[in-house]
This record gives sequence, C-alpha cells and structure tokens, in this order.
Amino acid sequence: MTDVAVSVNHLTFSFGHREVLKDLSLQIPTGIAFGLLGPNGAGKTTLIRLLVGLLKPKSGDIHILGQLISRKKALFIGYMPQLQSLYNELTVRQNVEFFARIYRLHDKAKRTQQVEKVLKLVDLWERRNDAVQSLSGGMKQRTSMACAIVHNPPLLFLDEPTVGLDPELRVSFWEFFSTLTKQGATLIISSHTMDDAAHCDRLGFIRDGKVIAEGTPNELKLATGTAQTSLEDAFLYFVRQGKDARND
Ligand SMILES: Nc1ncnc2c1ncn2[C@@H]1O[C@H](COP(=O)(O)OP(=O)(O)OP(=O)(O)O)[C@@H](O)[C@H]1O
Ligand SMILES: [Mg+2]
Repeated sequence: MTDVAVSVNHLTFSFGHREVLKDLSLQIPTGIAFGLLGPNGAGKTTLIRLLVGLLKPKSGDIHILGQLISRKKALFIGYMPQLQSLYNELTVRQNVEFFARIYRLHDKAKRTQQVEKVLKLVDLWERRNDAVQSLSGGMKQRTSMACAIVHNPPLLFLDEPTVGLDPELRVSFWEFFSTLTKQGATLIISSHTMDDAAHCDRLGFIRDGKVIAEGTPNELKLATGTAQTSLEDAFLYFVRQGKDARND
C-alpha cells in the first residue's frame, strides 16, 4: 500500500474554451482528512470530478492509491457529490441499496448487513422506509453520505458535505470523519467554512484552478507571518495575494 493517496501532476482541464484547472499539482498522504478550500468557481468540484474519474484531464496525470485513475478502477472510491444524486421517489434504504449494488456488493446477506450498518451510522434507521423527497435537507445530506460510504471505501471524496447541517449534526459528521481516518481511510473534503478547515489535518487553498497554498492549518497560519492569525485571515491572505499577483 502506498503512503500517497492522491498524486496529481501538472493537471489541466477546460470546459470548452474556459481553462478551469491550470497546471495543478497536489500530493495527498493516506490516512488524513484533507480540506480543499477556495472561492466559488475556484475549481474544487471540477478537481474532485477528475479525481473520481468522471472527467478526463486535458493534460497531466492522476494517480489514486498508486494507480492511474480510470472509471473501472474507481470502485474503491466513495464520492459524495456537491449536488445530491439521489432518487427522490425511492426510499432512503432503496437509495443506499442501489449504490451498494453499483459498488458491487453482490452478496445479498453482506449487502443487507452493510446497508443496515450505514443507515444506523448516519442516524436514519427510523426513516429508512420514507421516500427521499419527504426528508429534510440535512437528512438528504445524510442519505447521500450513507450512499458514499456503504462499500467501506479507503478513499472518500466529499464535496461540501457539511453545507446546510445544523451545528450538532456538523459535529457528528466530524466525529465520524475522524473515526474513518483513524481506521486508515483518506478523506478529501471541499468546504467554505473555517470550522471544517480547522478539523482537517492538511489544507489546500485553490484559486483560479491553481493550488496557491498547501499545508497543515498551523503551517498556513504561520506562513502569513503571525501565529495569531485566524485560519480565515490566512485564507484571505493567500487568496488576495493571488489576486494581487494577477493584477501586477
Ligand atoms: N459543466 C460545466 N460546464 C461548463 N463550465 C463549468 C461546468 N462546471 C463548472 N464549470 C466552470 O468551471 C469553473 C470551476 O467550477 P467548479 O464547480 O469546479 O468550482 P468550485 O470551486 O467547486 O465552486 P463552488 O465553491 O461554487 O462549488 C467555473 O468557472 C464554472 O463556471
Ligand atoms: Mg463546488
């Protein structure tokens, strides 16, 4: 097993004429929670979609757990998209069951056991037979999370998983993420909140399709010149630096 979970080298990607990722390189060690932060439109979702094999790079390469990424090999990846891709008419349980089948949990007894385990984990056991359309936003979020983790992936991509969660739920998500990393899983989490950022072991600040700073929350704070800086100030410092450099 490699100790690098994600290795991205000189990655570029365009939607039509718009270059969205520009010569982006990033190494993410295994067994940590890695936070991807950046303003709206920075390229976080696009990067995650490339990392899970849903988009193809224009140039550069991506290695996931030591292998070149391809959709066929992506079964060891869990992915919670920014926009939920749930089936509204199906029940919570049917949705999780559906994803379990996609992830090839073919053995029925094992699949049932795993589906039940994750439904309890995200605290939706009581609501398992309700249609997704009848759930609250936070419950849909939890259903989406259950779908992403049902096959126990060693590598999990979560695109803004804590958006719209109440404070208690946010804390329980982070407790759960910490359990996963302690078990050796690697989590890549995009977010806009400094609360999420502070929970991450390492952070990558992204702006205009480039990594403008990378390190532990403390390293990033120190890089701004003062240990008293908040993470939010550090983030704004790097983002504005990037802006100034472009305007020079
Ligand atoms: N399907 C698409 N077709 C065309 N352009 C797109 C598409 N998806 C994203 N883009 C463009 O790519 C750029 C990066 O978008 P992306 O969704 O990756 O940003 P983000 O960092 O995830 O932003 P947010 O914080 O708002 O989620 C934006 O300029 C966006 O308009
Ligand atoms: Mg996004």
